[in-house]
Amino acid sequence: MPDVLVNTTRLSYREAGSGPVLLLIHGFPLDSRVWDDVMAITSQARRTIALDLRGFGKSASAHKEASQGSTMTQLAQDVADFIKALDIAPCAVAGLSMGGYVAQELAWLDRTLIKHLVLVDSRSEADTPEAMSRRNVMAKLAKDAGTQPIVDQMYPNMLAPTHDPRVGDRLRAIMESQPAETLADACIAMRDRQDYTQLLSELDFPVSIIVGEHDAITPPALGRALHEKLKTGRIIEIAGAGHMSPLEKPQAVAEALLTLTDVT
Ligand code: MLT
Repeated sequence: MPDVLVNTTRLSYREAGSGPVLLLIHGFPLDSRVWDDVMAITSQARRTIALDLRGFGKSASAHKEASQGSTMTQLAQDVADFIKALDIAPCAVAGLSMGGYVAQELAWLDRTLIKHLVLVDSRSEADTPEAMSRRNVMAKLAKDAGTQPIVDQMYPNMLAPTHDPRVGDRLRAIMESQPAETLADACIAMRDRQDYTQLLSELDFPVSIIVGEHDAITPPALGRALHEKLKTGRIIEIAGAGHMSPLEKPQAVAEALLTLTDVT
């Protein structure tokens, strides 16, 4: 995988296709592999780029110490610098769950970099006090006991009740390969993120939502409520998918991304 030097770290990324750019940002505790099947389809009509955030996936081995103390602002600043380094602004940006938080923070930092924003199985609200407490517990668990207990805790809520076991195996493998320090840092970054609802309602470019019908972490009702507050954009529900719709139903998610970011 190629990588590019941004903001004191190296971000690895995968890229395929040509045409208008679609930048994909993975969720927690994942990396760009979660988009592989989606990319195989979107790259037929878009230059599709999926990056590994600081400390995740191949970006971890590219620069081991980089994950230390990262914040949502730092993760988004990395993406801003990445977009500038590749000279792809303004582009369509789609973020899965935590990647959606990064994409919204990016819009807050510099909205001129974005042409369309797509939140995939994500939310605009900040953490509640209860959610913040859970982040603290999870960050400590990752530091004390490593990646495996985080995977075991999160995995049962990630997929639709009925899912292909091979998808489950792929998801586990991606989760289990993430460094524990990165996961601890990401928990704190998510805990401290701001509420993006007001920002989203003020954006002039389309803000769209893709959500799995059975998403237990960011349920469709949340996406529908957000959609009503937005100036433009659409919401597409993915039948049969849970919180990992790009892994569970890549064809439907790819088609949704192509439709939502259609520039013609
Ligand atoms: C994710 O899938 O990225 C996380 O579940 C997001 C979160 O914990 O808020």
